[in-house]
Amino acid sequence: MSILDDILMIGQRMKSEQLSLKDSISESSRVNVSDEQVEGLDRLIYNHCMNKSALADFFGKSRNTFSKILSEMEKRKLISEPIFQNKNHLYTRFDVQTIMAELKIPRYNEMYVPRVIVTENHKGGTGKSTTTVTLATAAALDLNLNARVCIVDMDPQGSIGSNLIRSTSEDNIYLTITDILLAEYEEEGDYAQYITAGYSEEDIIANIPFSTHLPNLDVITAFPTDDRFTDTYWRLDKEARNRLLTRFRDVVMPVLKSKYDLIFIDTPPQDSPIIWSTNEAADGLLVPITPREYDFASTTNYMLTIATRLKQLPSQGENIKWMKVLAVNVDDKSQHEIRTLNKLVRTVQDKFMTTNIKHSEAFVAAAEKGRTVLDIKKSEELCPPKQFDTAEMSITSVYQQFINEIKRFSAKGE
Ligand SMILES: Nc1ncnc2c1ncn2[C@@H]1O[C@H](COP(=O)(O)OP(=O)(O)OP(=O)(O)O)[C@@H](O)[C@H]1O
Ligand SMILES: [Mg+2]
Repeated sequence: MSILDDILMIGQRMKSEQLSLKDSISESSRVNVSDEQVEGLDRLIYNHCMNKSALADFFGKSRNTFSKILSEMEKRKLISEPIFQNKNHLYTRFDVQTIMAELKIPRYNEMYVPRVIVTENHKGGTGKSTTTVTLATAAALDLNLNARVCIVDMDPQGSIGSNLIRSTSEDNIYLTITDILLAEYEEEGDYAQYITAGYSEEDIIANIPFSTHLPNLDVITAFPTDDRFTDTYWRLDKEARNRLLTRFRDVVMPVLKSKYDLIFIDTPPQDSPIIWSTNEAADGLLVPITPREYDFASTTNYMLTIATRLKQLPSQGENIKWMKVLAVNVDDKSQHEIRTLNKLVRTVQDKFMTTNIKHSEAFVAAAEKGRTVLDIKKSEELCPPKQFDTAEMSITSVYQQFINEIKRFSAKGE
């Protein structure tokens, strides 16, 4: 046997041992079950509990009136009893969401149209996934925004999606966006089996998002086999390629936009049909860049090609209403980085966000736990307190600028 036959055999043997998306999700959620419990709650749910007096302030009610509303809701079994901790009465985000609905707090979709924000940069390791998940989490935690948020992982090699899944339901459909996009070309695939079982395409799309630790944050995972999108694309003729590139926008997005207000898409570090299909479905582009010379050089390259690429797409890039470059993983103490930041200010000009995400050990500590920095508490001591503050402050300022800009081009009736 030649070495090539050996390689082929190895590939085939590995394929037969490979887990499906469903099995790999059940495998990873088994790990999550053993995660730490606090006050009888999953650590992640506990970390986002809010206390009654802060909530009374948010709802603009006196402590007395608010207590009455809460005990009434408790009696009607709409919310559970709070966690009593010293003088604090803590409510989970799931209960807070129910209270918001009961008190008719305005929802995002009453004032703004749904938006799809794609994070991309062809350079690897620039902080795309970290930025996407952190901003999406910040949006979900923003009570004033009151939005339903979904993260879509389009990076076949990434795993942000499966890290975020906290629970699965009977209704969940174990498919990726790519499985849906390629349906027409895969008569034997998993998608086809759901259709045979009587699901409509819309039902399938509506049920692929998984729940997370936040009531208004869902996630759609990617899977390494999604890489086949590129092979399929190149096999098609021009007309079929265009049809494939518009499917995300025309078939998947209407369903997702009816369920979610803000859809954040994380992409792989490549210039490939997966990115083009995602760009065709986007309303806005966020380009994270670390202020290092190599990143500057490759982002320059990306900037020089992206306009041409967008023009070649079916919508010719006219769907893109917003674009910003965001400096991430910034170390203010490095003279080298400050010089690169200055170069970015001079060249990117008004498309450069004035806020940036600082370098902090908190991001690394959070990533090790499969969480975002917004999901850790300072008191957990997962990193030095100063590092925690740096991370939290920079995320808060970037999020505020980001969401104000999104609101500005998304207000209804404009
Ligand atoms: N602000 C930050 N401070 C410290 N470390 C960070 C920060 N942002 C990201 N990192 C770390 O940098 C690494 C790369 O980040 P991330 O995975 O988000 O990049 P990416 O662009 O998605 O990479 P890829 O191109 O491989 O998908 C990760 O280990 C992450 O924990
Ligand atoms: Mg990534």
